[in-house]
Amino acid sequence: MSDMSFNPATTDWYYPTEDIVKNAHVPDYESVYKESMSDIEAFWAKRASTLEWFKPWDKVLDSSNAPFYKWFVGGKINIAHNALDRHVKTWRKNKVALIWEGEPGDKKSYSYWRLWQETNKFANVLKSMGVKKGDRVTIYMGRIPELMIAMLAVAKIGAIHSVVYGGFSEQALADRIEDAQSRVLITCDGAWLRGNIVELKKMADQAVHRSPVVESVIVVKRTGQEVHMEQGRDYWYHDLMGLPIASNICETEQTDAEDPLFILYTSGTTGKPKGILHTHGGYQVYTSTTLEWVFDIKDEDRWWCAADPGWITGHSYIVYSPLILGATSFMYEGAPTYPYPNRWWKMVEEYGITILYTAPTAIRGLMRFGDAWPNRHNLSSLRLLGSVGEPINPEAWRWYYNVIGKGKSPIMDTWWQTETGGFMITPLPSVGLKPGSATRPFPGIEVDVVDDEGNSCGPDEDGKLVIKQPWPSMLRTIYGDPDRFVQQYWKAYEKQGWYLAGDSARKDKDGYIWVIGRIDDVIKVSGYRLGTAEIESGLVSHKAVAEAAVIGVPDDVRGNVIYAYCILRAGFQGSDELVDQLKDHIRHEVGPIAVPTKIEFTNLLPKTRSGKIMRRVLKSRALGLPEGDISTLEE
Ligand code: WTA
Repeated sequence: MSDMSFNPATTDWYYPTEDIVKNAHVPDYESVYKESMSDIEAFWAKRASTLEWFKPWDKVLDSSNAPFYKWFVGGKINIAHNALDRHVKTWRKNKVALIWEGEPGDKKSYSYWRLWQETNKFANVLKSMGVKKGDRVTIYMGRIPELMIAMLAVAKIGAIHSVVYGGFSEQALADRIEDAQSRVLITCDGAWLRGNIVELKKMADQAVHRSPVVESVIVVKRTGQEVHMEQGRDYWYHDLMGLPIASNICETEQTDAEDPLFILYTSGTTGKPKGILHTHGGYQVYTSTTLEWVFDIKDEDRWWCAADPGWITGHSYIVYSPLILGATSFMYEGAPTYPYPNRWWKMVEEYGITILYTAPTAIRGLMRFGDAWPNRHNLSSLRLLGSVGEPINPEAWRWYYNVIGKGKSPIMDTWWQTETGGFMITPLPSVGLKPGSATRPFPGIEVDVVDDEGNSCGPDEDGKLVIKQPWPSMLRTIYGDPDRFVQQYWKAYEKQGWYLAGDSARKDKDGYIWVIGRIDDVIKVSGYRLGTAEIESGLVSHKAVAEAAVIGVPDDVRGNVIYAYCILRAGFQGSDELVDQLKDHIRHEVGPIAVPTKIEFTNLLPKTRSGKIMRRVLKSRALGLPEGDISTLEE
């Protein structure tokens, strides 16, 4: 991509209007940041006190067993209580919590009162099925309100949800069910996407077949097509919700601040996905503070986070923090271009969306269709825009800013990760912007760009992004694998006690951070985080493939696409049919999002003498660039 590269010298500044600054929750970033850093614990304690606690904490931060930090130790709090229970005691009970539109055009809305009742009912259903505090429940659904209700109900009874994105397929789902040992799976018959049905139930059936730990499957009827229902195992959601047991009163479990809230699997350097664990207390303090301050959420707003609830962005900023703030959210089920490329803009106009938060890949995808589609609609309700998932190239930034935001809506480019739980490097509405930079750390967050020894890099020098102090919504561990947690995030700068983010970055002379990309074997495809290892092991599980290597190659719309190189087993010949077969195989083993754009057969993969595949060399070859230092290449 022509302007994808970093070039701060030519960067222009964009300043928010006086109106935006004056009315923002935090009109002066500098002073709040300074204050937060003078006493981080006092800062977070003050933020925590905006929430309702069953019992206050004894200690804000316990670092005695670092990096296994604990926050708000001794406190009792449940996220479902702050998201729902406390609002129904106030005028907010009649406020709209969620407006939803399905891809075919059907609509629904939920007040806080109704969402609370539905959550209570479903929580009682789960209890009646024997789900108890600490049990893991896997959720595999499309973007429908019941997904939110399911997550909230699980949280309410102190169980732990593991949401698996609907773009993953049976093997990926089975692996995640197996790792979490979930006895209950919640899914739906199907989901609408681009006018077609994604066969979620069918994939769920195959996953359960591969992972027999599941005892009960609850199925929401969404599309209405015929699906197989296994007697004694599968139950319709609407049948269960109609039973007397599904009473609309359900007491909220008084969970400990450090009790697990959810596991969310994400990709790392090995084939086995990592179950990132977040807890009830710190996570809600952090996500609600960041949403309120960065997107300046007010009661009159219509907030639209266009992510999928199956990823961290959806967990933190569709489901939990907007509800904690008592906001009105909008959620849309389907594809941005269905049936026409104006679908999003039509909905912005119709629902009076005031804040839109999406990913660069979506912006680039819509930009391709030209200005006429958005220009047909009245987008004047928008006052703030947001971006997440990968660096936003200045060309897309300017289009978003000028054509969608009409030059009056600042873009909050938020850098963060599944592991961080919430925004880490991000502007607040009062901060001056440079297109392509996520700007400055959020108050209470200390970040730096350092070399391998831990020295701060000079201005515009490439280095590793680290976080130097703990924060409330930090991941607590990798589920079932504390050693990997330490190894992955804390080993590189063990002496200093810093968190290694896994991204490379630069800091310019103004202290603005420019995130460049991953330094590990993670590829961002359309903003989705995928691991090369998971795709490689998917390829190798095909009978024709002996060895595979996968790389990400830059793409104008999707950010990156996947190229795969395969060495075939003896007796197999490379052919177009085999390419198609392998693509199909990946579609089932990992999911449609992980299908390589290109599969090439080769006799040799570049490896180090210790046998590690040199993806860097493959990438240079794919891009026709010099191969760089290949001194460690195997003879
Ligand atoms: C990348 C998504 C540049 C980064 C919330 C990070 C970004 C990874 C940005 C985490 C951004 C996310 N600018 N890069 N604004 N936001 N990233 O866990 O490489 O799916 O490490 O969380 O996305 O991806 P994840």
